[in-house]
Amino acid sequence: MCGIVGYLGKNRNALDTIISGLEALEYRGYDSAGIAYVYKNQIQIKKKAGRISNLKEILNFSETPFIGIGHTRWATHGEPNETNAHPHHSGKFTIVHNGIIENYIDLKNMLEKKGVSFSSETDTEVACALLNDIYKTEKDILKTLVKAQDLLIGSYAFGILCEDDLNTIYAMRKSSPLIVATKDNDKFIASDVPAILSFTNEYYLLDDFDIAILKEDTLSFYHPKKEFFQKEKLLFEGSKESSQKDGYEHFMLKEIHEQPKVIKDTIHFYFDGTKESLFANLPDLEKYQDIHIVACGSAYHTGLVAKSLIEELADIPVTCEIASEYRYKKVFYHSNTLVIVISQSGETADTLASLRKAKEDSIDTLAIVNVIGSSIAREADKVLYIKAGCEIAVATTKAYSAQVALLSLLALKLAIIHKNISEEEFTMIAKQIEELPALLEKLINQEKYLNIAKKIYTRDDIFYLGRKLDYAISMEGALKLKEISYINSVSYPAGELKHGTISLVENSTPVIGILTDNTMREKTISNLKETAARGAYIVAISNEEIKEVDELILIPTVHPLFQPLLAIIPLQLIAYEIAKLRGCDIDKPRNLAKSVTVE
Ligand code: AGP
Ligand code: GLU
Repeated sequence: MCGIVGYLGKNRNALDTIISGLEALEYRGYDSAGIAYVYKNQIQIKKKAGRISNLKEILNFSETPFIGIGHTRWATHGEPNETNAHPHHSGKFTIVHNGIIENYIDLKNMLEKKGVSFSSETDTEVACALLNDIYKTEKDILKTLVKAQDLLIGSYAFGILCEDDLNTIYAMRKSSPLIVATKDNDKFIASDVPAILSFTNEYYLLDDFDIAILKEDTLSFYHPKKEFFQKEKLLFEGSKESSQKDGYEHFMLKEIHEQPKVIKDTIHFYFDGTKESLFANLPDLEKYQDIHIVACGSAYHTGLVAKSLIEELADIPVTCEIASEYRYKKVFYHSNTLVIVISQSGETADTLASLRKAKEDSIDTLAIVNVIGSSIAREADKVLYIKAGCEIAVATTKAYSAQVALLSLLALKLAIIHKNISEEEFTMIAKQIEELPALLEKLINQEKYLNIAKKIYTRDDIFYLGRKLDYAISMEGALKLKEISYINSVSYPAGELKHGTISLVENSTPVIGILTDNTMREKTISNLKETAARGAYIVAISNEEIKEVDELILIPTVHPLFQPLLAIIPLQLIAYEIAKLRGCDIDKPRNLAKSVTVE
């Protein structure tokens, strides 16, 4: 997923404004950056591989353009180098792009037969050449863009400049997010809100096939089916500070510390301690006897937690699938199937495709999303928002926890529907919810994690073990470490390691066991001891004392609904401390993007 920022106005220097906007979007992941701006009545293009700082070195900020478009690229077609960096130019058009043009080969062949030559390997340059080719016939920019919509297959958010209209920015989207904003007659386009928060928290969200036309004195919206129309203005609930580190060394650490509040806000938005609030604020779930949970990465891991909780507490079968598999596999739906898709960004391509697959079969869909108005939020039959605020770090923490908290409420509601929760247990649950923030704060502020990290951060392999709900928790622990420290950290069902992988365990291999399920504790301890017998260094995260381990992190015993929320804290912070000791780029890990809007 990349970053797009455009600016048009007389109150600011386009170069400064666009660069600061791109820097606010750095968390989305990228490998090169570039900017196109109008200066001395010509479109200038500057671009560099690597960080935005590399691009800044070649810019002349004494030039004071009033219009420009900038881009940070996350390569999908062509290696991350200067030639493939955006903006791309062809004939009269210069564009920046987020997404994938799936039919770019066919379009490229068609254009090459017309004598068009290409300098990059990207699909974006083909899209730019297509605009120029259409424009030769249409001789009207808006008509050109409408015609291009019929020919482009795939996903795109475009920022567009044309030599025949140097006072205008055009923006157009399909399946990739793009917002437009205006403040004191300045105009902005951006991939996401943080890029404009320095100027305003009001914005317009482009829908598929919308075209925005930004001029000095006007901002207009066009859609092929509606022609020119008025768009509703949205308000971003967060603040510029929410996209700042506020004194923390990394966004990830800040967001770990935000979890007590985020979990409290998310739970209290739907649950006031009464059953009535669950039935008033959560969707009707009575008719569903078959639940599919579909997501990617950490969101998938929240689904695994939900699967375990719903099956154990509500006796309903739950299928939890990785979206990139689900979207293509044969899926058996029933009339009482509910498909729940989970996504922090609400733009993950595979999850969106899985949602559309269910809708094609007229299956009820529910989305659990953080970003308001995102594609998944808008296309699902029902959407439940978590209250995590803007999550900047690529490695999710607070959004993961907020998703787990909301899914726990769904599990609680289902358990009540299926009469599996006594009044006494419900009362205890409601009481524990009020105690959660303090328990989380205490866990977050323990010193043990750094001491443990110092003992294991040099290792190449680290194993995470657990059974049932604890296995689901271990999956997220392993991913957190993997994605920010680049250690090969793998999660295994505790009973499975001995069926082959235990061969990798050698002297001092760290093995992290999660033991919160009393019914599984002894068995998991036995599995940990099997690895200790091969020299492993055992770290246990448990809600009961365990003597046979090298390091014990004791967490409070709470209802199974909330045990994952506590157990994940040590796993997040051990991963953080290890990555820090290894000198990794914690907020922007190599190769990763905050939201994968491409297949
Ligand atoms: C989480 O730490 C990862 N960055 C990644 O696995 C993420 O959870 C996944 O890409 C799904 O993103 P989404 O929640 O925005 O759909
Ligand atoms: N597909 C385009 C490219 O590879 C855009 C990728 C992106 O979204 O940054 O250049």
